[in-house]
Amino acid sequence: MVGKLITFEGIDGCGKSTQARLLYDNLKRISTKCILTREPGGSKGAEEIRKLLVTGTSNRWSAETEILLFTAARRDHLERTISPGLRDDKIVISDRFFDSTKIYQGAARSDLVELAETLHHLTIKLIPNLTFVIDMEPKRALKRGLDRFSGEDRFEEFGLNFQKKLRAGFIELTKKENKRCHLINGDNDPQKISKEIFQIYSDHSNG
Ligand code: TMP
Repeated sequence: MVGKLITFEGIDGCGKSTQARLLYDNLKRISTKCILTREPGGSKGAEEIRKLLVTGTSNRWSAETEILLFTAARRDHLERTISPGLRDDKIVISDRFFDSTKIYQGAARSDLVELAETLHHLTIKLIPNLTFVIDMEPKRALKRGLDRFSGEDRFEEFGLNFQKKLRAGFIELTKKENKRCHLINGDNDPQKISKEIFQIYSDHSNG
């Protein structure tokens, strides 16, 4: 595999999807071969699993079942979208990846980091080359997320304290894996954030 996997992470409503799209647009502009994809989803089967995960009541699945479902969706996404893209020397930009499972299911919903990591190691293995964690104050992010009325609010329904735990988890991740993960202040103007991200990407590619 010769391409690169770049992931965007963060709490619900933090603006990471906008930033993933802006990086994709910037790379296209300079004729870089790239794919924009997302999790859960990014392939036909994984999009079907997505519907099960993001709709319905918050207690629809246990954290253990969620880890299995997210990992199943990821495996299909990997087989059908990510790996072919990397083999074709593309930059694959994914709006969420394994860090979300580790933080949402592993750390914030319960104490299951080991299970999430073991399953990842056994069935996915891939680690992103670069990860942007968009940080935002949870109250603001939650309001932005809910104001979209996307009909995919299952995780927002866990409430503000859950979002606070997620934020702490993501910040800790960027400290532990500070070579791969970059913490970005999501409160800035989206264009300004996008420039900062593009600069980090360029430094990474040239380094
Ligand atoms: P999205 O809103 O970024 O499209 O993601 C859908 C929801 O799924 C979001 O609330 C985060 C959650 N999620 C997890 O809980 N674990 C995961 O592994 C992934 C990929 C997403």
